[in-house]
Amino acid sequence: MGSLEGKVAIVTGAGGGIGREEALLLASEGAKVVVNDIGGSLQGQGSDATPAQKVVDEIKANGGEAIANYDDISSWTGGEKIVKQAVDTYGQLNILVNNAGILRDKMSFNMEESDWDDVMRVHLKGHFSATHFASIYWREQAKAGNQLSGRIINTSSEAGLYGNAGQANYSAAKAGIAALTWVMARELERYGVTANAIAPRARTRMTESTFGDLSAKDGFDVWAPGNVAPIVAWLATDESASINGQIFVVFGGTVQLIAPFSAVGTIKKDDRWSIKELHDNKDALFGSRSSGTPPFPVAF
Ligand SMILES: NC(=O)c1ccc[n+]([C@@H]2O[C@H](COP(=O)([O-])OP(=O)(O)OC[C@H]3O[C@@H](n4cnc5c(N)ncnc54)[C@H](O)[C@@H]3O)[C@@H](O)[C@H]2O)c1
Repeated sequence: MGSLEGKVAIVTGAGGGIGREEALLLASEGAKVVVNDIGGSLQGQGSDATPAQKVVDEIKANGGEAIANYDDISSWTGGEKIVKQAVDTYGQLNILVNNAGILRDKMSFNMEESDWDDVMRVHLKGHFSATHFASIYWREQAKAGNQLSGRIINTSSEAGLYGNAGQANYSAAKAGIAALTWVMARELERYGVTANAIAPRARTRMTESTFGDLSAKDGFDVWAPGNVAPIVAWLATDESASINGQIFVVFGGTVQLIAPFSAVGTIKKDDRWSIKELHDNKDALFGSRSSGTPPFPVAF
């Protein structure tokens, strides 16, 4: 018996890459899965039903249950329709994996308005659209005395945690997803719902064009996108009820727990600071820490 037997899951952007692996693992653990994917290009153009349908076919061939959804997750109606499809088809919803994404990397001085808007829309609004409608559903269920264990698993990025040059739009959206995760964790805890986020690193069409050579070497393939899926499945289980509002970097066999923003230096007085006083107390505020751009702790 799988660890997600009897559960119903939605995975957005599950037609390829990391989302596909997540959908396959959730299904093999017994969850019935709504496989969402618009089937567009990496830059977010076009649509194609084939990727989502292929993953559904794969799940069914392995003996699992799944249904395809081709809605645009970056629209409010897309989020509403996905949640409705899960509940109408399988009678309930337990797990929402927000994963869909696109890329429009450019330096800030070269970025077009549409690059900013489209990346924000697909990642940030695309994470909130289904979350909004799932939260309505879970709150209604809890108020009706039907306490489901709800699980939201969001997809942030180290670009969002640390800020990556060339990704103003993407990094800002992914940082927003981290903040959204904390908000949802606080708001939905009382209804038996947790919200956590992963910041994955894996070989997909998204990274093959930017990270250089990610080909599998002898032994453990650290870049395999399937390495990311187990932590998502683990967070989705009933046993993970006590894990809420957490962010994990996941890469190969490494899982890192990320600390939220926290104060690392404080100066305080019982009056307003003058500009000169602030300057004079800079060393007290920074201590031994550098006051330059914080390091990006990831090397590729
Ligand atoms: N691959 C990595 O190393 C890495 C690193 C950090 C974060 N991420 C994040 O992981 C997630 C998955 O990325 P991936 O690497 O598997 O890339 P991918 O391009 O293979 O997968 C993204 C999927 O989302 C779908 N999608 C895009 N817009 C959509 C929309 N509006 N509605 C529905 N589906 C849509 C695409 O069709 C695609 O199948 C993304 O959120 C990405 O930002 C990936």
